[in-house]
Amino acid sequence: MDCVCKRKGIILSGGKGSRLYPITKGISKQIVPIFDKPMIYYPLSTLMLSGIEQILIITKEEDKDVFKNLLGDGSQLGISIEYAIQHSPDGIAQAFTIAKNFLGDSPAALILGDNLFHGDCLIDKLKNCNSKKNGASIIACPVKDPERYGVVYFDSTQKVVNIEEKPLKPKSNLAVTGLYYYDNTVCDRVKELKPSGRGELEITDLNNLYLKDNQLWIEKMGRGMVWLDTGTFDSLHEASSYIRTIEHRQDLKVGCPEEVAWRMGYINNEQLEKLAKPLYKSGYGTYLLNLLKEHQFHI
Ligand code: DAU
Repeated sequence: MDCVCKRKGIILSGGKGSRLYPITKGISKQIVPIFDKPMIYYPLSTLMLSGIEQILIITKEEDKDVFKNLLGDGSQLGISIEYAIQHSPDGIAQAFTIAKNFLGDSPAALILGDNLFHGDCLIDKLKNCNSKKNGASIIACPVKDPERYGVVYFDSTQKVVNIEEKPLKPKSNLAVTGLYYYDNTVCDRVKELKPSGRGELEITDLNNLYLKDNQLWIEKMGRGMVWLDTGTFDSLHEASSYIRTIEHRQDLKVGCPEEVAWRMGYINNEQLEKLAKPLYKSGYGTYLLNLLKEHQFHI
């Protein structure tokens, strides 16, 4: 049955982050800076650009207050943010067991708190996924090292046959990114999942359940779009460098939730000005105030 509820978003920000130890031994990975802002600002902005206004952030117990101090209840951004705890990292699909009450009858979008998206036509793709009433939509991106991800496997007619999680011998170079849109059957479908060999409720198994029912759509990212990884020291540094390069060149910030809130009409000029004031010293606030100046060319 079609659902008339608005889609709600989940940012999964648990996990041990042990591939970045010792950086993430004392703080959550999703708080680590990517150039000029905490990592979670990027997936938060991505959900907001999709048109999602109700968001649940899932964290480890010890990190909850850090995220709350940073983002509060979201009202300053004209959205609503709630928090929930994942007591042990038992798989990405577990997000839907945790978020069941938050979601109610609504369709969902899930983004991993360490996934960064940027580029041309991104907003159209996000809105496209958000507008689908039924089934699941996932976003896939060609990569050099598909064996690190969920990989889409096509037959000779380019029909999707299967998604394989971290295959030793990938059958394509198309990786599944950490951004997923599901209809309101998702919480029931998750109940069908069994823990994998590594003891996790796998998001890939959930996607394959939708695929089995011919209810999975894949949006492929084109050349003008970027999906950045932050899983290793090198990729973390590269992500920061990429954001710094773009921001310096264009004088436009990437993943700036205050700007997104203002452009989406969730907050007005006065509210943006209020958000900018305490951020003045770092230059972040000056950027926000400059958005209000008429001579700026807005994209
Ligand atoms: O980034 C996209 C990839 O994410 C997909 O291609 C894979 O299909 C998917 O399994 C996942 O692979 P990863 O190996 O990157 O997953 P990882 O275990 O590193 O978790 C990704 C993020 O989700 C990480 O920031 C921690 C968080 N997480 C993970 C698990 C398993 C949680 O918050 N809770 C969890 O239980």
